[in-house]
Amino acid sequence: MTDPGPDRPAPLTEYVARLFAPEDEVMETVREIGEARSLPAIQISAAEGKLLQVLLTAIGARRVLEVGTLGGYSGVWIARALRPGGVLVTIERDARHADAAEAAFAAANLADCVTIVRGDALEVLPTLEPSFDAVFLDADKENMPAYFGESMRLLRGGGLLLADNAFWHGAVVDDDDASTGTQAMRDFNRQAAAHPDLVTTIVPVRDGLLVGVKRVG
Ligand code: SAH
Ligand code: DHB
Ligand code: MG
Repeated sequence: MTDPGPDRPAPLTEYVARLFAPEDEVMETVREIGEARSLPAIQISAAEGKLLQVLLTAIGARRVLEVGTLGGYSGVWIARALRPGGVLVTIERDARHADAAEAAFAAANLADCVTIVRGDALEVLPTLEPSFDAVFLDADKENMPAYFGESMRLLRGGGLLLADNAFWHGAVVDDDDASTGTQAMRDFNRQAAAHPDLVTTIVPVRDGLLVGVKRVG
């Protein structure tokens, strides 16, 4: 069953969130930091954060790359699932968002294992070296096809390609929607579906989480 909309969870989604993804005080603080600074409330849901943790734990992730930090909400979920000594590198081009995230990671006692890279992902990604255990794409949608290529370059075999908003508010199946963001998300989903080195699907959580595993060898 799919939720009626990204921010209108169905009762069973709320059941999952209540049982498996309750927020602790730190997560609430991170949320409050974002609200106090008037950041857009477009972070992942708690249930989606927990799904990220399940997947990252399954592969024993130590090095994760995030594109689109916002106030650090998803980053806290991700960083908490890293193995000891693991690191999250997260890219953010908006200085106000990066500042809020810095405060959030400090409040969550995660400053030591998170590196915020301030800049445009289109420019930052080509400067990064492989390899990462997982890449979580959650920034602008227009550049998703470019992020796909960079992610495949950076991921290790057995690593996870993760992407938020794979449904883009349902727009990916709206034939009347030819906006650049929607077309880019469709292209990205097609790239992930067709790539011979990826085993991929979209999990219908919130606005769709694309999950691909890069083949080994
Ligand atoms: N992952 C966050 C939500 C990210 S919202 C969470 O769930 O908590 C998208 C973020 O991507 C915004 O903060 C926006 O400023 C950033 N962004 C958009 N385009 C970008 C780009 N080209 N490079 C880096 N960051 C970008
Ligand atoms: C929006 C939601 C997101 O999760 C995101 O990553 C970017 C934008 C939105 O609702 O506009
Ligand atoms: Mg998103």
